[in-house]
Amino acid sequence: MTTTAKSPKDALDKISEEFAFNTKDVKEFISLFHLEMARGLEGGQSSLKMIDSFARRPSGSELGTYLALDLGGTNFRVMAVNLRGKGEIHVGATSRYSIPKDIITGKGEDLFNFIASKLGAFIESGKLAKDKTYALGFTFSFPVKQTGIKSGTLIAWTKGFSAEGVVGKDVVALLEGAMKKQNINCISVEALANDTVGTMIAKCYARKDCDIGVILGTGTNACYPESRISGLTVNTEWGNFNKLRQTKFDLVLDDASNNPGLQLFEKAVSGMYLGEIFRLVALSLIDEKLLFASSKLARSAFEVPYSFTSEQMSSLAEGTFDAKSTSLSQMADEDFAVMVSMAKIISTRSARLAAAAVASLALWQDPKMLQKHVVAVDGSLYEKYPGYKQEMTRLIGEVLGGHAGNISFELTKDGSGTGAAVIAAVAASEHAT
Ligand code: GLC
Repeated sequence: MTTTAKSPKDALDKISEEFAFNTKDVKEFISLFHLEMARGLEGGQSSLKMIDSFARRPSGSELGTYLALDLGGTNFRVMAVNLRGKGEIHVGATSRYSIPKDIITGKGEDLFNFIASKLGAFIESGKLAKDKTYALGFTFSFPVKQTGIKSGTLIAWTKGFSAEGVVGKDVVALLEGAMKKQNINCISVEALANDTVGTMIAKCYARKDCDIGVILGTGTNACYPESRISGLTVNTEWGNFNKLRQTKFDLVLDDASNNPGLQLFEKAVSGMYLGEIFRLVALSLIDEKLLFASSKLARSAFEVPYSFTSEQMSSLAEGTFDAKSTSLSQMADEDFAVMVSMAKIISTRSARLAAAAVASLALWQDPKMLQKHVVAVDGSLYEKYPGYKQEMTRLIGEVLGGHAGNISFELTKDGSGTGAAVIAAVAASEHAT
C-alpha cells in the first residue's frame, strides 16, 4: 500500500482526502441508512438487522435492588443496582473481571462457566443480603435475535469473540445452565438486553425524551423506539452497516479480520479498530520513507496487528503520548507531528460517521426535526477521545442547521449495566401482575 506522495505533507493531504466524509457524503449516507433501515424492518435483505428488543420503557418509579451482568468485551462486570424511584439509580457493589483470551476464542461452554463462576464469587463475597432471590438483567452486547424479553439466540460474534458453539443458541439458557451446574439458585434471569438498549433505558428512567441509545466504545451500535411497529425498542446493529466508502486501509483491515465483509461501519468507527487503521497508515508512510525515515527500527514497531491502540491515538491527540509505548524510544518532532495529524484524520472520520448515523435515527423518527431528542451515549471513544464529542456536534450542525439544537447528547455512564437492571425490574413487575 502506498500513497505515492512526495513529502509527508503531501501524504497527509492525500490521506485526509481519502478519509474525508463531507456534507454531501453525509446526505447520501443518511438516505442509504434509511433505505437499509426500511429493508431491515420489513425483514428483507439488509446490512441493518433491526432487532426487536422486547424492552419496555420504565415509568421511573420502579424500586428495589436488581443485579446486572454486563458482557460485551474482554471485561465483564457484575453490579448490584438500586432503583430508588423518581429516576434515581444508585450503583452498589460492582466487580469487574477480565476474560482470558483463550476463553474468548475457546469453547462457549467454558465462557459461560467462567461467567457463572464469577457471578457465584460475587454472591459469596458477602456483597448481597442472604436468603433473597435477585432478579438479574443480562446485558449481552452482540447481535442476538431476541425471541422474548429473556431469550434470544446469538446471530454472530463480533468484536473479536469466537467462542465455539454459541452461535444459534439461546444465550440466557446457556447462562442459566452454567448457573445451575454451579448451584447458583438465588438469581433469576429476568431480562436479556443489548448494551445500547440498556443505555437508552437507563436514561429513560429519568428522562422521558430520550429516544436514542448509542455505544461508542470497543464496538459501536445504537437503538431507538420504533413507533411504526410496536413501540418497542429496536436494536439496529448499525456496526454492520455496509453502504460506506472504504479506503484502501479499511479494505486491508477487513480482509485480515476474523469476519471479513461484516461490521464495516464498526471497523471504520469503533475503538477496537481505530488503532489498527492508524497502524496500517503508519506502515504505508514508513515504507515510502515519509515517516521515521531516519529510524531503521520504526517498521518493526508497527508490524504486529492490533498493537497500536485507540488509547495511544487518544494520547497523541492529548499530547501525553509516550514514544516508548511503541518501542520507538524517541521520535523526531516532524514524525510526532505527522502521527498527531494521522490520529486526527482517522478519529474525525469516526466521529463524523457516528454523528451521521445518529442524525439518521433522529430524522427517521422526526423527519422535520420538530421535537427534542436526547441521545444517551456511553463508551470510551465518546467519553474520553479529545475533540470527539465536538466533532459529532459539528456534523449535526452541518446536517440539521437551525434544528441541530433539538439533538442533545448525554453521557450515560454504566448505562449498559444499570439499564439492564431497569429492564429486569420492568419485566419482573409484569410477571408479577
Ligand atoms: C457490536 C455488537 C453490538 C454492540 C456493540 C457495542 O457492534 O454487535 O451488539 O451493541 O458492539 O458494544
